[in-house]
Amino acid sequence: MSGGGIVVARPPSSVEGGRIIVALDFPSPSTALALVDRLGDGCRFYKVGMELYATAGPAVVAELREKGKQVFLDLKFHDIPNTVARAVARASRLGASLLTVHAMGGSAMLRAAAAGAGPGTTVLGVTVLTSHDAESLGGVLGRSVQNVGAEARRYAAAVRDAGLGGVVCSAAEAALLRPVLGAEAAIVTPGIRPPGADAGDQKRVRTPAEAFAAGASHVVVGRPVTQALDPAQAFADLAGSAETGRAEAGSS
Ligand code: C5P
Repeated sequence: MSGGGIVVARPPSSVEGGRIIVALDFPSPSTALALVDRLGDGCRFYKVGMELYATAGPAVVAELREKGKQVFLDLKFHDIPNTVARAVARASRLGASLLTVHAMGGSAMLRAAAAGAGPGTTVLGVTVLTSHDAESLGGVLGRSVQNVGAEARRYAAAVRDAGLGGVVCSAAEAALLRPVLGAEAAIVTPGIRPPGADAGDQKRVRTPAEAFAAGASHVVVGRPVTQALDPAQAFADLAGSAETGRAEAGSS
């Protein structure tokens, strides 16, 4: 603690705030880490995705860990089982709490991913990218798809059977997948917006409270915090809205 000045203690992160992961979608580590410093103790969990990792690599994960933050390393591995197992093992050793692989990689790849992870890492299977609709997913699979949710459920069952720790899915699908995965699994949902916000380029957005009520264990939020004029306030508002939602759900 610095001497002399008045020290204003930050309020401890709310319970729901601890389940909000801020996506560091930045082209440089200095911009990303400046945001982390602006958010301070309020935010404890950050997502490092392909863009930042391609620029900054393991060093940015190490810096986040040194700052006491949890890291969701969202590299979405999809390769032959041996390669994925080895990549997961390396990423796990960097200290990532959450890691992603594509559930579309198949059962052998998913089992290899589970086997490669160290004890502190939960490997998540990405079910269906939220950028897909039935038509584009059908194009990938080479057959008609009527219902994206049913496909997501199929991938979630494969993730569960392979022994992974959970999934990434659209918040719109969290309620559908929670019974498939069981109470302990992680369900991480992007596509999150503050209450009353413009949906922007997102098709199916949810507030944090809605996503948690639907069964998400964590939500990922990017631009509503990272592009805000006051990111710390934007994060605090989101966490506050989630707490209110939790209190309302508890009292109903
Ligand atoms: O849209 P926003 O900036 O909140 O996105 C945060 C993160 O969520 C991004 O890093 C992106 O990878 C992920 N995302 C997603 N599906 C979407 C929108 C965003 O997986 N439809």
